[in-house]
Amino acid sequence: MVSARCQSLIDSVKDRSCTVGIIGLGYVGLPLIDAFTNAGFRCLGFDVDSKKVESLKRGESYIKHIDSTKIAGWLKRELFDATDDMTRLGEPDALLICVPTPLDDARDPDLSYVVGTCEYIAAAIRTGQLVVLESTTYPTTTRDVMVPILERSGLKAGSDFFVAYSPEREDPGNPEFSAAGIPKVVGAINDDSLQCAGELYKSAVAAIVPVSNCEVAEAAKVLENIYRAVNIALVNELKTLFDSMGIDVWEVIDAAKTKPFGFHAFYPGPGLGGHCIPIDPFYLSWLARKQGLNARFIELAGEVNRAMPDYVVSRTAEFLNEFRKPVRGSKICLAGVAYKRDVDDPRESPSFELMELLLRRGADLSYSDPHVPKLPHMRHFDLPPMESQELTPEYLSSLDAVLIATDHTAFDYPMMVQHAPLVIDTRNATASVTRFRDKIRKT
Ligand SMILES: NC(=O)c1ccc[n+]([C@@H]2O[C@H](COP(=O)([O-])OP(=O)(O)OC[C@H]3O[C@@H](n4cnc5c(N)ncnc54)[C@H](O)[C@@H]3O)[C@@H](O)[C@H]2O)c1
Repeated sequence: MVSARCQSLIDSVKDRSCTVGIIGLGYVGLPLIDAFTNAGFRCLGFDVDSKKVESLKRGESYIKHIDSTKIAGWLKRELFDATDDMTRLGEPDALLICVPTPLDDARDPDLSYVVGTCEYIAAAIRTGQLVVLESTTYPTTTRDVMVPILERSGLKAGSDFFVAYSPEREDPGNPEFSAAGIPKVVGAINDDSLQCAGELYKSAVAAIVPVSNCEVAEAAKVLENIYRAVNIALVNELKTLFDSMGIDVWEVIDAAKTKPFGFHAFYPGPGLGGHCIPIDPFYLSWLARKQGLNARFIELAGEVNRAMPDYVVSRTAEFLNEFRKPVRGSKICLAGVAYKRDVDDPRESPSFELMELLLRRGADLSYSDPHVPKLPHMRHFDLPPMESQELTPEYLSSLDAVLIATDHTAFDYPMMVQHAPLVIDTRNATASVTRFRDKIRKT
């Protein structure tokens, strides 16, 4: 039996009179709007970045793999509006928070965006609203960080308004999965909050996975990302061992993954990238440290993964050496600065560290990335301004080496291998190239 306030929200979800407010209109927020507008809900998007708000109001996307026609469609159906006016946070019936949760300079969780958002909400909240955190974070954030700020409004969480946590599972650039097609874990601070959040998500996504409380949902999200970070570290370490034994790690993984049970393939690379895997595990290790506990797997995986750019640059020096060339003065083009295939997102990409290390060793460096036309300024890296080079046969043959850091499908790998004197491949992107294989070095 739910309270009358909770029932009223559930009814508004069922009859689609419920308006959904999405706070943070980035890689997570926009696909969520797509899922909710497709399910017939009116969405009001909030972002502190007024340029993003203006762009969306014009029907223009600023994220490459989210097509502008989608946004134009939301506007045309009159199901979407966007604003940077946080005093309007009292308007929607449900508020879904999708703001960044990065690490600070000491590599500790930086919850300033979540806290800032909750302060805005506390100033505008009204009875009957549902507030859900979607941002990745450590267990206890929803109950111990969010709720006290929201209750500064004078309203009581769980009865005057409802609070839940439902982590996002976006896989940007992967057309196989849309936000609506991925089951969503939902945990809440009490049963009414779970009923409200469950009903809302159930109407927009394929399936929901209700769990006992928000701490379980928060922990499930960090488990998913720690699982990836640790397994990637494992294959990265095995790559360095197999490299020195003259065994091709890619062929090993391909062989191992024919086992129909008990093995899931992870692949090595030049280092971890993106806003999740290099960051989220440390939210939990920070919490563990605070409680006097030791998250050894997380710390070890971080150590192994962080060492990969250095390893790749050392191997690059060895491969150039084979061709009687030093790194200093060699013309090296780094192919791919986005952190993963076919996206334009450079956040935490290992390419920036590779570039910095190569420049430090005196390489004559350029880069090519069809999705990143200009090298963005990154807070932790000091790189000169550069523009993406087109990989023409002439350009490739003027180089000493191409270093493949991201395996975009837009690259013409056979042409790359044909014309570049040396191709160093950290992604096995040249696996199907049949000619001139003597010029390929994998690492
Ligand atoms: N990108 C992914 O694939 C992905 C997947 C799963 C989980 N996540 C998590 O989701 C969260 C959001 O990630 P993202 O990739 O969408 O980030 P993003 O940087 O693409 O978008 C976040 C948006 O929030 C806005 N913002 C910041 N502070 C705000 C505030 N106080 N009020 C309103 N807007 C504010 C920013 O301007 C930005 O537009 C993070 O916790 C991330 O770890 C991301």
